[in-house]
Amino acid sequence: MNRKRIFSGIRPTGEIHLGNYFGALRNWVDLMHQYDCVYGVVDYHAITTPFEAKTMPQMVFNTMAALIAVGLDAEKCMMMVQSDVPEHTELAWILSCLAPLGQMERMTQFKEKSQQDPENINLGLLAYPALMAADILIYRADVVPVGDDQVQHLELTRDLARKFNNAFGDYFPEPQPLLTPTPRIMGLDGKAKMSKTLNNHISLFEESDVLQQKIMTAVTDENRKRRNDPGNPDICNIFSLHNIYSKNDEVQMIDRECRVAGIGCVDCKKILHGHLETSIAPFRDRYKELHEKPDEVRDIAREGAKRCLPIAQETLQEVKSRLGIGKHQFV
Ligand code: TRP
Repeated sequence: MNRKRIFSGIRPTGEIHLGNYFGALRNWVDLMHQYDCVYGVVDYHAITTPFEAKTMPQMVFNTMAALIAVGLDAEKCMMMVQSDVPEHTELAWILSCLAPLGQMERMTQFKEKSQQDPENINLGLLAYPALMAADILIYRADVVPVGDDQVQHLELTRDLARKFNNAFGDYFPEPQPLLTPTPRIMGLDGKAKMSKTLNNHISLFEESDVLQQKIMTAVTDENRKRRNDPGNPDICNIFSLHNIYSKNDEVQMIDRECRVAGIGCVDCKKILHGHLETSIAPFRDRYKELHEKPDEVRDIAREGAKRCLPIAQETLQEVKSRLGIGKHQFV
């Protein structure tokens, strides 16, 4: 059976939150049944922004454990750590020599990150999308599930594949983005998208009491000052979570009752907390179990790298030979 190949990557940021789950991981699990999937914990991407060497191993471990805890199965897909397969970075160098500087400088994410942290504009941050292209092309992936913030990087990947093919003969497929159908998950501050950096997130493995406390103190519709004021679910982040975690008729009931002050925020939050607790408990249990048996995680990562290596080596061999580079040129 010849399945299409998928590659996607996640940065080891330490804590996987609901936004990561609905934005990516949930779909990764679904896709594992239809495609030949490679999923990478991309640690070389993580060092383009400030990081601590001390905590890096734990971040990578936690992220790998998260992939397993949400249901990715090492029998059905490959899970690897990017730096375990050095061919990624070697191909990234080659691709960076095909990448026009102007196009790299125009990347929205590069511009945003440069603005956010002007002290840390390094060459790696600029080259980030070329490394991402290498992650994908090293496996000659056909499809890349991403959020819409990564579509521009995918366009670059296709440009680089095309450019390589034109210059050195057809080799790479032009990988297509698979846009993840994602409900917009607002942060607990009710102001921005859920993100670890903004610290407005709910971890996918949140302890019961922390989960409850985070929900009960979350911002709702700020115009609703008193219990008897009507609220507006359209701008309420708690309601956006109900949309995901509650059954249809309950969502409709809350929508209706909130607008007429029939239900208060406290009760509304209690209902959400109940559903959220039920839904994340199995993930949390599995995640904890993996921390008690770290070898299980390490074995899966080792096995993943072992299966990825021959594919990556074959690609790199072929690429280098087409460039007229590499030891074989002398023999
Ligand atoms: N840049 C992606 C993100 O921030 C992570 C990533 C790295 C990735 N390499 C990739 C995603 C390759 C898809 C394919 O989310």
